[in-house]
Amino acid sequence: MSKVQKIALIGFMGAGKSTVAELLSKHLKWQVRHLDDEIVAKSGLSSIGEIFTTYGEEHFRNLESEVTASMQELNQVIIATGGGIINRHSNMVHLQHNYGAIIYLRVAFETVRARIGDSSNRPLFADPAVALTLYNQRLSIYERYADLIIDTDGHSQSEVCGKIIREMKL
Ligand code: S3P
Repeated sequence: MSKVQKIALIGFMGAGKSTVAELLSKHLKWQVRHLDDEIVAKSGLSSIGEIFTTYGEEHFRNLESEVTASMQELNQVIIATGGGIINRHSNMVHLQHNYGAIIYLRVAFETVRARIGDSSNRPLFADPAVALTLYNQRLSIYERYADLIIDTDGHSQSEVCGKIIREMKL
């Protein structure tokens, strides 16, 4: 794979996208953008939980699409997406057209569950049974859009970062 200048990390909640994005950013000296943070900033509210309870998921998804579309001017950037970015094909088409690589951080549901438990800032993980259904529905969708799949179970986040650098020849 040739050298890329823009990377989007995708994967389920708790896959380590934000931490790995920070590690990659330090290593490559590229900027990092966390879509969830940008969404909260754009919403005028204080958290993702608040966006969901005040305006509902559809509003959150609209903001997510707007923020995704606003990232196209950036270069030498790693973006950490939210786990549901794959809900809209248009988001993924945008990433495919504007990003050098979409990297899927694959993780087992049990790892995620142990890692994040029932987080109040992850409305879609409030009920683990619902989250498991979502996880099973999404697995093949992440795979479909990924240029590179990294299995993260049993690996530290710095190992995951190292794997990406090697595989992408960065
Ligand atoms: C979501 C994942 C979250 C956040 C929101 C919805 C999802 O991001 O965007 O709670 O639909 O999977 P993380 O993947 O960073 O937890």
